[in-house]
Amino acid sequence: MHFIAIFASGSGSNARNIMEHFKNHRYYRIALIVTNRKAAGVIAHAEEMGVACSYLPSSTFRDNPSQVIALLKKANVDFVVLAGFLLKVPPPVVNAYGNRIINIHPSLLPAFGGEGMYGDHVHEAVIESGVPKSGITIHRVNNEYDEGEVIFQASVDVIKGETPASLKSKIQSLEHRWFPLVLEQVLQKTFKNH
Ligand code: GRF
Repeated sequence: MHFIAIFASGSGSNARNIMEHFKNHRYYRIALIVTNRKAAGVIAHAEEMGVACSYLPSSTFRDNPSQVIALLKKANVDFVVLAGFLLKVPPPVVNAYGNRIINIHPSLLPAFGGEGMYGDHVHEAVIESGVPKSGITIHRVNNEYDEGEVIFQASVDVIKGETPASLKSKIQSLEHRWFPLVLEQVLQKTFKNH
């Protein structure tokens, strides 16, 4: 069995979807949710799914990354998934997990990525720029925001009259459809099927 942690700062719809996908999985267990926001919606999802959830303040990520690593090691975590996690992952955590950390970003990276590009900011910038397509990118995490190796992309058309809300909802559907499947494939490759 491999133990996976999900880091999330927000409503946690992707985390929820991933917990559901891996419920009773033979090889992979979502063992821990980690959040830096006490009011994050993901906390209730973890409770409902019976998954342990730890809150760590943002200052711990910034000033005491060894505590983050200790928490993960204690839960035997050997793979980390970022799903709407708004802080930079501290370099010691990235270094400890190597290529075993992935993130999902709601645009076609490298376009509309980087610091400050999250949530509606992304969709607003996409619409304002007039590009015909947006989408999702699942990528490895390194020490720069949104710059790790791209693993998977899927796109949607940005249509005339598109609003940040309508684009967000189309992109969310893509995320919910693909993230658990792509994660499972990455886990299979990483751990040679078990
Ligand atoms: C998603 O759009 C994801 O791509 C981005 O943050 C959002 C998280 O949404 N990184 P949710 O909390 O999973 O609903």
